[in-house]
Amino acid sequence: MATKILITGTSGLVGFRILVSALLDGHSAVATVRSEEKATLIRNNPVIQKLSAGARLIIAIIPDMTIDGAFDSVLEGVSHIIHTGSPVPFPDYEPWSQVYEPTILISSSLLSSALKAPTVRRVVITSSIVTNLGLNPSTTVAVSSSTRIPPLDSVPPSFANPMEAYILAKIAEIHKTEEFIKTQKPHFSLSYIMPGHVFGRNELITTADMMFGQNSSNNFLMPGMVGGELPFPIHGAFVHIDDLADIHLRVAMMDSSSPRDFGIARTVEYSTIFDHVEKAFPEATAAGAFKRGVVPVLPVKYDSTEMEELLGRELKSFGEAVVDVAGQYLENLGRNKA
Ligand SMILES: NC(=O)c1ccc[n+]([C@@H]2O[C@H](COP(=O)([O-])OP(=O)(O)OC[C@H]3O[C@@H](n4cnc5c(N)ncnc54)[C@H](OP(=O)(O)O)[C@@H]3O)[C@@H](O)[C@H]2O)c1
Repeated sequence: MATKILITGTSGLVGFRILVSALLDGHSAVATVRSEEKATLIRNNPVIQKLSAGARLIIAIIPDMTIDGAFDSVLEGVSHIIHTGSPVPFPDYEPWSQVYEPTILISSSLLSSALKAPTVRRVVITSSIVTNLGLNPSTTVAVSSSTRIPPLDSVPPSFANPMEAYILAKIAEIHKTEEFIKTQKPHFSLSYIMPGHVFGRNELITTADMMFGQNSSNNFLMPGMVGGELPFPIHGAFVHIDDLADIHLRVAMMDSSSPRDFGIARTVEYSTIFDHVEKAFPEATAAGAFKRGVVPVLPVKYDSTEMEELLGRELKSFGEAVVDVAGQYLENLGRNKA
């Protein structure tokens, strides 16, 4: 059934891909962004243009999504909400003001606006496997979407780095939401989706340079295929962006008696990045476009077997994600030369 879905974070890797899938599935979408510049970026994107969505796509500008009531004016007629518009921990971000605080405040402002919107039936929030893994993940014990790390008694006065702020914010966010459901008893149901690192094509990226710095988690893959070295380890669990978009829409369309949260993360070994690329693009590799690099791994164990049942098919492999990203990089190199 076609519905009207509010999607936040549509200027980002995950939100934009979900927006495209939602429009392809025939839904109407309200895509929220923070600025006119980002609205134009989405409106003029070739993939969006090709979809000719017309009145099925509304792009709504909300400059500050952290304030109470920020979403009040954009929920008219909306039946579903998919919330991906939240910071990822870029190393140069200020941990408190650019990561911890907005993560908590945006979801809280969105939920309180949804409470005032009688048409909203279902809310899906994109969390992360770090919510289940915590600050010091075990390398031997598998966790899943139902694993809960207790919240902190109080917010620390400072954070060691943006990643620590991100993990603690995602943990606090889920506990705050559970409290919201208990105390407010909303008329809508809510699910969290916990992905591992997300890799795959990002149609918002139009230059080779952008592939390295403006491509969310795909940034982390690039050193592994161009002879670089990522200076920090990343969790060894991933999901292909196509699967993640699919999962978001399926979970959004479930009825409220469905289980609440869904983890999606397959174990990955980053030392294989270059092997996948060399096999798929032997000529470009021989010509020097690709070189073996290093992406250190933080090994984790995550159980997301339920996802294949939900999708009714196998999840896409790490090799497919790597080849998709490398292929987009080559396209951009060619476009930049032309
Ligand atoms: N990528 C991954 O590997 C991964 C893994 C697990 C979970 N997730 C989760 O997936 C969600 C989306 O991540 P992504 O990979 O799409 O990241 P992304 O490409 O960096 O996009 C983030 C989106 O959130 C918006 N945003 C960031 N800070 C904001 C703020 N303070 N106020 C309002 N909007 C803000 C951005 O808007 P602007 O364009 O205006 O900055 C952008 O639309 C996040 O919740 C993230 O934690 C991602």
